[in-house]
Amino acid sequence: MVPLKRRKVLSSGAGRTGAECTGNNGEDAVTKFPEVVLFLLERKMGTSRRGFLSQLGRSKGFQLEETFSERVTHVISENNTGVDVRTWLDSQDQGRHRPPVHLLDISWFTESMRAGRPVPILDRHILQEQETNEAEKVVFSVPSYACQRRISLDNHNTIFTDALSLLAEKAELSNEDGRGVAFRRAAAVLKSLPRTVTDMEQLKGLPCLGDHSQRVIKDILENGVSSEVKLTTQNERFKALKVLTGIFGVGTKTADRWFREGIRNLTQLRNSAPSLNRAQQAGLEHYDDLNQAVTKDEADAIGEIVEKAVLAVSPRSEVTLTGGFRRGKLTGHDVDFLITHPEEGKEVGLMPKVVSWLESRGYLLYQKTTRNSYLESEDGPGRPSSNMDRFERCFSIFRLEKTERLNAKKPEALAENGAQPQEDVTCSISGHMQLQDKDSQDEQPTGDKLWRAVRVDLVVSPISQFAFALLGWTGSKLFERELRRWAGHEKAMSLSSHALYDNNQNIYLRAASEEEIFAHLGLEYIHPFERNA
Ligand code: UTP
Ligand code: MN
Repeated sequence: MVPLKRRKVLSSGAGRTGAECTGNNGEDAVTKFPEVVLFLLERKMGTSRRGFLSQLGRSKGFQLEETFSERVTHVISENNTGVDVRTWLDSQDQGRHRPPVHLLDISWFTESMRAGRPVPILDRHILQEQETNEAEKVVFSVPSYACQRRISLDNHNTIFTDALSLLAEKAELSNEDGRGVAFRRAAAVLKSLPRTVTDMEQLKGLPCLGDHSQRVIKDILENGVSSEVKLTTQNERFKALKVLTGIFGVGTKTADRWFREGIRNLTQLRNSAPSLNRAQQAGLEHYDDLNQAVTKDEADAIGEIVEKAVLAVSPRSEVTLTGGFRRGKLTGHDVDFLITHPEEGKEVGLMPKVVSWLESRGYLLYQKTTRNSYLESEDGPGRPSSNMDRFERCFSIFRLEKTERLNAKKPEALAENGAQPQEDVTCSISGHMQLQDKDSQDEQPTGDKLWRAVRVDLVVSPISQFAFALLGWTGSKLFERELRRWAGHEKAMSLSSHALYDNNQNIYLRAASEEEIFAHLGLEYIHPFERNA
């Protein structure tokens, strides 16, 4: 065993830091990491390489033991299996009680040398102690269309799918929709896997994983992060467009124009005062609230209000919660409702009545209603590549009282002027970063408000189209896109939120339930909870 003083050679130059002792001149440095004691296994490494690596380690301020002892915290080996190292370790102390040690691959050591400090231990650094039988290695297999897969919210691969979704978003913000869809399809494949991907080999034969997506996955497997994602989150344009398109009513085109005019954040937007339409004004005014996730409780509270409104103006009408909440999500960016009447035609004229009921009671901070413009005889089968439908629809911003959120009661303080602009903006950006637009610290914090703004979409469908509308509005967006692609490519059918058309037989295929639509399409029924592609 090396005497302690040899491992703690202090340089004579006062104030000399470890960082300066990076030269490979054989001179030992100050021990910088007292908690970490390394032992390099000579087996398969060889004496000279071990000597060289030990010297390198000490020059970076690491403690390295020449012989194995109870002080060792990390055993580093090269080209050994976990079983080999464990066997060797057990032979060292014949089962005597010893503190647990990390059995690590040389990659952890070299990365730590490069970093000048012990890097966090990742799965790929740890030696596997079970013999991996090649035949047992999990290779996944999934069908190629997302609408053929059952994708629950239980995602084992968020580390990869978050990265791919962010790159999809980046592509969409750059008008590269094709690339965006490719990333979303790749993410949907990983979401459907029954366990976490640990090896590129497991991905062989999986559909929708292009070269680019594979590079991203490989980067994460090897380095713990994707360098492209890291660069994207630091990119000025991406950051600005995220903030600006986060305003309700602002699309990529408008945000991009503002960006080219030098606008990067909400403060600059307010100061430059471009002309905003009514939706954008409301979006800017309620920016904080609208960028805060809506909870299931809030969605249910709004559901009760909508139901009350609908039943008040048309007692036999029915309200269905759609969108992400119908897929079992616990939060969402908005709340989507589908309204219908059991008797065809009785839904006509319903929306304006519902809207004025809500408006007169102070529930709406903003609303814009579009008329139903779908006529089967004139429109023909829906265009398969588009998810734009022609239903009577109300885009709105609800004012939800906090008391209502808790116990779905009528609002109390509606008379007082509530809607104050929220200037101190914090928005969550895909869970990756928080951007703050520090403008006025003295504004009333959002937490003290007695109400919050929530985006709500109301859609009215005639009962004959209800199943198609329900399927179309339940999502996810990718699931819908894949359904339409399946219908077109595999079945020569056109699917929209209004109808299903068979292009070979030249007939509309009617359906009274989602199950019937899946059957027409020759697909197994997928429950809404399993449509989270
Ligand atoms: P959303 O955008 O509300 O998404 O559209 P979501 O799945 O509910 O997720 P969050 O939580 O709100 O973000 C819901 C469904 O409505 C369809 C979309 O295709 C999606 O499947 N939709 C949306 C349309 O059919 N037409 C539209 O104009 C908008
Ligand atoms: Mn939604």
